[in-house]
Amino acid sequence: MARWTATALALYWAGGAALTTSLATLHRRLELSRAKHRSLAGHARIARKLAALVPFYEYNETRFFCVDGAPADITARRRAGFERLSMLYKTRFAQGIALTAESTSGISDLQFTDAYRVPFQFSRYMRKHLPSSAFVQSSNGVTITDLDGNSFYDLSGSYGVNLLGYDFYKAAIKRGAVRVHDLGPVLGPYHPVVEENVRFLKELSGLDEASFHMSGTEAVMQAVRLARYHTRRSHLVRFSGAYHGWWGDVQPGIGNPLPAHETYTLRDMSEDSLRVLRRRRDIACVLVNPLQALHPNAAAPSDSSLLDSARHAHFDRAAYADWLKRLRAVCSEQNIVLIFDEVFVGFRLARGGAQDYFGVRADLVTYGKTLGGGLPIGVVCGRAALMKRFRDERPADICFARGTFNSHPYIMAAMNEFLRYVRSAEADALYRDLDQIWDNRARKLNERLRAEELPVEVANMSSIWTVCYIRPCRYNWMLQYYLRAEGLALSWIGTGRLIFSLNYTDADFKAVAERFVSAARAMHQDGWWEHPAPTNKAIKRAILGEILAHQLLPSRNSAKH
Ligand SMILES: Cc1ncc(COP(=O)(O)O)c(C=O)c1O
Repeated sequence: MARWTATALALYWAGGAALTTSLATLHRRLELSRAKHRSLAGHARIARKLAALVPFYEYNETRFFCVDGAPADITARRRAGFERLSMLYKTRFAQGIALTAESTSGISDLQFTDAYRVPFQFSRYMRKHLPSSAFVQSSNGVTITDLDGNSFYDLSGSYGVNLLGYDFYKAAIKRGAVRVHDLGPVLGPYHPVVEENVRFLKELSGLDEASFHMSGTEAVMQAVRLARYHTRRSHLVRFSGAYHGWWGDVQPGIGNPLPAHETYTLRDMSEDSLRVLRRRRDIACVLVNPLQALHPNAAAPSDSSLLDSARHAHFDRAAYADWLKRLRAVCSEQNIVLIFDEVFVGFRLARGGAQDYFGVRADLVTYGKTLGGGLPIGVVCGRAALMKRFRDERPADICFARGTFNSHPYIMAAMNEFLRYVRSAEADALYRDLDQIWDNRARKLNERLRAEELPVEVANMSSIWTVCYIRPCRYNWMLQYYLRAEGLALSWIGTGRLIFSLNYTDADFKAVAERFVSAARAMHQDGWWEHPAPTNKAIKRAILGEILAHQLLPSRNSAKH
């Protein structure tokens, strides 16, 4: 009897413990779910699964111009405008288009970017009638010149690398190459310029050590690896929509064929996310891309996803600084490594980067892009204890990181030119009033657009801009073609991101604003923004209907909509 009671008690106890454990697990799971952003940007796995279900279909020539149900007179205006633009492209950009057509089949990257300039339903027709030229021949000041001799104001910013103007980088590369010429491309031993670079990087980042890599993606990989090594924890936290390069663990959703099991994607600027950081014991680090302050929880805005006018951006420096402070406090409390990924914004917002700009110190900081003085680079700066790649007390337990081209003398020399400039008195003047200058420029452009009742506006975080659209419309992506026709060069993501170099003078910017307004005016006159939908949701519903129709009745709908 006594034995039976003991067994029953043990079973009760085990059952109770199991229940408590599973309730605790359930509770943690619920907390995690609550900390996910409602959009697909917050649900990487679901996004990937849904993406795999979307069938290809496209609009035929008739539907192309009236997919929003616009009446005949508007459709005719759109068609006439399109034909005019198509003629202009084919004559003005003839040589560039010819070389692009010849080389595209051999350049995988080009095939990809070319296919994803606009929503896929419009893409093939656009490529046929408004082909892009992928080649340019020279740069000068704030302009670049294509193969046909057309000069464009550069709003692409070379993915953010171009902070100081192309002429600066040309000179940095040239001067740097002269300085290291005697050594040449010797790898392994360092050129002495490395010592000065490290000294400057320590000073600018406020951190103890630096390591050199070949790209921003590699720098992020190394920062996360170090965090995992030192905390002995597995998971990294990134915030919804944030880009940190194309390594699998930081790109858990669409674009990566495998799920990222050791990644949590949490909602930016949310108490629920802080709660997860406080409770979970498996989090090694939190990655912050401060660019997200312009559009928290949204992915990098690209025109290929410009299905409607829901793109939204608004930069609130104080609110984001406050969020970072709270995040910093929780990371410190939980021994989670706080990593600022400043590959994009480093040296662009302030001399001391996002750390200075928002007044928050990180444990590790990644830099890249402009820091290479025009050549490829990735850098990790960090506190000494976190940068260490071996344990004194466990000699076989190391954290490995190498790279053939790390600390390449030519790159180190170009970097040195960049760092010397950033620390110069001339740069003081550049950084002073930076935000005020770019905020004023954005405000003035918006005033002009409003005065002409054009349904478009810009939002900015200093010199990084994005274009937003005011009326629910299916054709906003057309603006990129009108802008190019006006001599404004954009990157392949179109109006999603305009990046200015800091050598834009007021006169240069005035010319850009003039052209921007002309482009928007022409697009307006050609009727693309007329016949707006009642809401963005209505547009999304209509597209979902098309997708379902093609999914359910593939044969009937197989060719063109
Ligand atoms: C914030 C951020 N991190 C990492 C990367 C990846 O850098 P890279 O393209 O040099 O690999 C980028 C590139 O755009 C970036 O913006």
